[in-house]
Amino acid sequence: MDKNSMTKEELLSEIKRLKEKNKVTIVAHFYQRDEVFNIADITGDSLELAKRAKEDKNPFLLFCGVGFMAQSVKLLSPEKRVFMPCIACCAMARMIDKSYFFDSIKAMEARGIKKENILPVTYINSSAEVKAEVAKMGGLVCTSANSKIIIENALKAGKKIFFLPDRCLGQNIAIAMGLKSAVIGIDEKLEDADIICYDGFCSVHQLFTPKDIDFYRKKYPDILVAVHPECDPSVCAKADFVGSTSQIIKYVRNLPIEQKVVVGTEFNLVNRLREKNTFVLSATKPECTTMNETTLESIYDVLKSIDNKTYANEMFVDEETIKWGRIALERMMELS
Ligand code: 13P
Ligand code: SF4
Repeated sequence: MDKNSMTKEELLSEIKRLKEKNKVTIVAHFYQRDEVFNIADITGDSLELAKRAKEDKNPFLLFCGVGFMAQSVKLLSPEKRVFMPCIACCAMARMIDKSYFFDSIKAMEARGIKKENILPVTYINSSAEVKAEVAKMGGLVCTSANSKIIIENALKAGKKIFFLPDRCLGQNIAIAMGLKSAVIGIDEKLEDADIICYDGFCSVHQLFTPKDIDFYRKKYPDILVAVHPECDPSVCAKADFVGSTSQIIKYVRNLPIEQKVVVGTEFNLVNRLREKNTFVLSATKPECTTMNETTLESIYDVLKSIDNKTYANEMFVDEETIKWGRIALERMMELS
């Protein structure tokens, strides 16, 4: 049947039929639009998705999220065939590649920091190739849910931490742990810092400002503010709660329903949090545009391609990158 002539109900029932017939598990990040989120078998933050997809028994996995998340599943479970409804990328993850990684190491060396005294820690929002280079230098991955415990352990090596690619997450961890941070290309004295940050950022979370928090506090003096650690440190400093997507969900859902809360993260997540007294911390819609490229139609197209064995949008990672990228992820998983 042509998808353009199907009703929404017919499209949903075809998706269900094709997915069951071909043993495909649908995985969706919290930032997916509702219609996609609602049909997923597994939902979660980036850490939970990587862990739960690894345990899943089906041979095919359809990943509704962004590229680094689907790649992480492939690194942990290379035997699985991983597909994406559309090849969506995380703009922050794309702000660093292997050559910018090496240039950053050189910038630290130019400030007298020896390569053997640098331990890289990459946010999971990075490519498999970058994760592999991090592992080769003895480093590992963290997510926003486990960043503190990962950095606490990394510091035991007695080295400078090179945190990439998210400047804000790196600075926020440093503040929370009472450490000094510096940003490559912005701060001169890298050698004085405990955590040296790459200057990447998430444009969605950069939308939130301290003024947005002031606006809501003035309007509703008892309101609580919850934000993701990809927000600028000036925003996190004014918030009542800073946490990963799953931690924000838990925090907000545990509040009494009459307690007003304003949330600084992606629109789709905030919108389905709770039926009332929940606000989005920006008058501008904070939508992760690439996450929102995934639709029921694109899911149907890829399921159909699995059914007719033409296999559209399959993720491939070369063996060497899998070997090293997996080490970076497994070092994280041993600790969290
Ligand atoms: P989480 O790890 O909290 O799901 O966040 C991923 C992300 O991309 C946030 O912008
Ligand atoms: Fe990447 Fe930002 Fe989208 Fe998260 S919200 S996937 S960090 S672009």
